[in-house]
Amino acid sequence: MGALEELAGPLAQQFTQLHLAAQVGILAASFLVLSVSLHVANQILFKNPNEPPVVFSWFPLVGSTITYGMDPPTFFRVNRAKYGDIFTFILLGKKTTVYVGCAGNDFILNGKAKDVCAEDIYTVLTTPVFGKDVVYDCPNSKLMEQKKFMKIALTTQAFQSYVPIIADEVSSYFKKSADFKGKSGIVNMPPKMAQITIFTASHSLQGKEIRHKFDETLADLYHDLDMGFNPVNFMLHWAPLPWNNRRDHAQRTIAKIYMDTIKERRAAGKSDAQDMMWHLMGSTYKNGTPVPDHEIAHMMIALLMAGQHSSSSTSSWIMLWLAARPDIMEDLYREQVENLGADLPPLHHVLLSAGGVTATDPTFFPDPDTWEPHRWDKDSPLAPRMVVKSEEEEEKIDYGYGLVSKGAASPYLPFGAGRHRCIGEQFANVQLQTITAMVVRDFKFRNVDGSNKVIGTDYASLFSRPLEPANIHWEKRDA
Ligand code: HEM
Repeated sequence: MGALEELAGPLAQQFTQLHLAAQVGILAASFLVLSVSLHVANQILFKNPNEPPVVFSWFPLVGSTITYGMDPPTFFRVNRAKYGDIFTFILLGKKTTVYVGCAGNDFILNGKAKDVCAEDIYTVLTTPVFGKDVVYDCPNSKLMEQKKFMKIALTTQAFQSYVPIIADEVSSYFKKSADFKGKSGIVNMPPKMAQITIFTASHSLQGKEIRHKFDETLADLYHDLDMGFNPVNFMLHWAPLPWNNRRDHAQRTIAKIYMDTIKERRAAGKSDAQDMMWHLMGSTYKNGTPVPDHEIAHMMIALLMAGQHSSSSTSSWIMLWLAARPDIMEDLYREQVENLGADLPPLHHVLLSAGGVTATDPTFFPDPDTWEPHRWDKDSPLAPRMVVKSEEEEEKIDYGYGLVSKGAASPYLPFGAGRHRCIGEQFANVQLQTITAMVVRDFKFRNVDGSNKVIGTDYASLFSRPLEPANIHWEKRDA
């Protein structure tokens, strides 16, 4: 008998005598040790010189998910310093290659549809939320047509009709809200901004029938739908988990509300409203097919969700920064008084670009972490150090939804670039500026502790936003 067998025999005997739970524990621990060893050995011994460097990680599948997820900007900065502009890391079990820097922004955002295929990645998350046949549940060429329909509807004339709608929503929100009763108080701002954003967007883009339903059922249903955007759903989108069941129920119910509204509108005849639903009801694909009702309903959901997260967190940041910089809030107030008068009217490799890295790079933006809206003034010492081309100099390209800038090598791309560029930029500007103007007219904000600091970022959600509670002190101007 060999020495090994001599040792193995008694060990095996001892193992079989153990309690079942202990046996399972030992097997699981051995499996973990084995897979960690193989994963580590694989990274050290089998480096492929033709592929980008891989960020070292201890655990297979988990890879860098936790360090990335806790603070993506720091993760990118630290690993860029270690590995250069292009590196691969494991995110939720997938090999993900990021190309940071201006060249990376251009390479990814202007990449060929067959090489950088957003629908392959996002569809598992977005299709159960938006519904079938729209956005990432259809060929990219169809999405380009859908974006064209939406972009055409967002005209200057439509925006002019939206401003009073948004302004009225903001004033009536503050009048009705129990948290803003009295002369002054303290409030956690982000949930308030989330409500203001959804009320203003639904009223202007989807019409007053839909807006009224937000006071009844729609707000809760949208909340359930939103839970579908949980990052773990990149892996568990199919699982019959409570939040997925609620997501599916909410999707069916909301889509039916939109489809019923479309039918009611058809029955009542054309109105002069400038909202997106009317526009889509009259739109036809290039092949002659009118946009079917279920697609209009699903586009309505997609549009509201696309705008909601970005505008709601941007407006929260604006309010929190105004509280941190009351001097800027006063500048904005004076600007309105001077201009409007004191009597104011109302699988495989996933590819990523990381626009946030260049947008916070001191090479382009001096003192990038300081919120200083005046950095956009021409002679500001903090003015961006980048070449800004005029409208005429800018080369344009049409991906199927109208002309957009061809170059994506800019360090500053808050609305993306290329075929997936935002079509909501102008709407977001109208919405955010109107909300800010209304708030500045009626309130003075400051931090509860009087400091100039702003709370950190919550990266755990899919869309980064302020950590909560993000309390500010408010005071009414007319108090
Ligand atoms: C501050 C507000 C907003 C910001 C910062 C923002 C940012 C962005 C960015 C960076 C993209 C590109 C995404 C990618 O490349 O995968 C995008 C796409 C898009 N956004 Fe916005 N957005 C905002 C508001 C809105 C609003 C209000 C709407 C709707 C009214 C909207 C609708 C869309 C749509 C439809 C796309 C296209 C997605 C695609 O083609 O894959 N966005 N947005």
